[in-house]
Amino acid sequence: MKGILLAGGSGTRLYPLTTSVSKQLLPVYDKPMIYYPLSTLIASGINEILIITTPDDLMLFKKLLKDGSQWGCKLEYEVQEKPNGIAESFIIAENFINNDNVALILGDNIFYFPSLGHVTKKSIINHGATIFAYHVSDPERYGVVEFSNSGRIISISEKPTKPKSNFAIPGFYFFDKNVVEFARKIKPSPRGELEITDIIQMYHKKEMLSVIKMDKGTAWLDTGTVNSLMEASQFVQVLENRQGLKVGCVEEQAYLMKYIDENELRSLSSSFNNKYGKYIKSILDE
Ligand code: DAU
Repeated sequence: MKGILLAGGSGTRLYPLTTSVSKQLLPVYDKPMIYYPLSTLIASGINEILIITTPDDLMLFKKLLKDGSQWGCKLEYEVQEKPNGIAESFIIAENFINNDNVALILGDNIFYFPSLGHVTKKSIINHGATIFAYHVSDPERYGVVEFSNSGRIISISEKPTKPKSNFAIPGFYFFDKNVVEFARKIKPSPRGELEITDIIQMYHKKEMLSVIKMDKGTAWLDTGTVNSLMEASQFVQVLENRQGLKVGCVEEQAYLMKYIDENELRSLSSSFNNKYGKYIKSILDE
């Protein structure tokens, strides 16, 4: 399975923080935001990844992530000229997808999944689509999935004013190759965007949609407002300081997935003359 990491958008909700810097490059505690979704993809066993970003930010992402070979990954880049919606990413990525299955993760979605491998194994599909559902107190801010008493999917809606459930749809999705054709069929929503929820609805109508409820031990962190961005940093800080383990450390995930070996990890650690480098080195000592 291939992966798309969508890191465009205008970030206007965080102005002036994001007036000149991409939102996904802002720090979340000790790493740039994009490290978190990137390490989620890597931990899911995906190392062929397309990064989609804005024309202005492309060079900065390339400077940070390079071609991915340092992590045993293959990173490619495409540009989204305007923020025409999340679903446009499949049209941009058509050649990259090339009839394969694809996972899409949003560059501002941060997950802490203690059992990610287990969850994503269930989601790696051969046909159809798999999405997650996560219980939140403010579903009106997200895509929302409604279930019947027996757990059947009843409806999917984007930011409903009166949500029919508290289950939000996080920005991490798995699709089969039909996703490109579906993305070409949908029309812009009233807010002028090609909506990811319209694609999910198409899979649902064709009875090709599965939803996995994320368990209570999983954290899905929001970075949409200045406060939630700060809270995400604090969450990572508390967890890392308490456990002495890092969240979203791309180098560590690449090593755990055996995309790089001990020597490669050692050489990565020596490129940081700081606590981050020491942490990477400590993984080898354990
Ligand atoms: O965070 C999960 C939610 O993300 C889902 O529950 C919603 O169904 C989905 O529509 C989306 O909602 P948002 O309105 O919060 O998405 P936002 O516009 O903030 O964009 C999410 C990320 O995708 C952000 O990192 C910017 C990037 N993006 C967004 C758009 C619209 C792009 O790269 N290009 C775009 O055209």
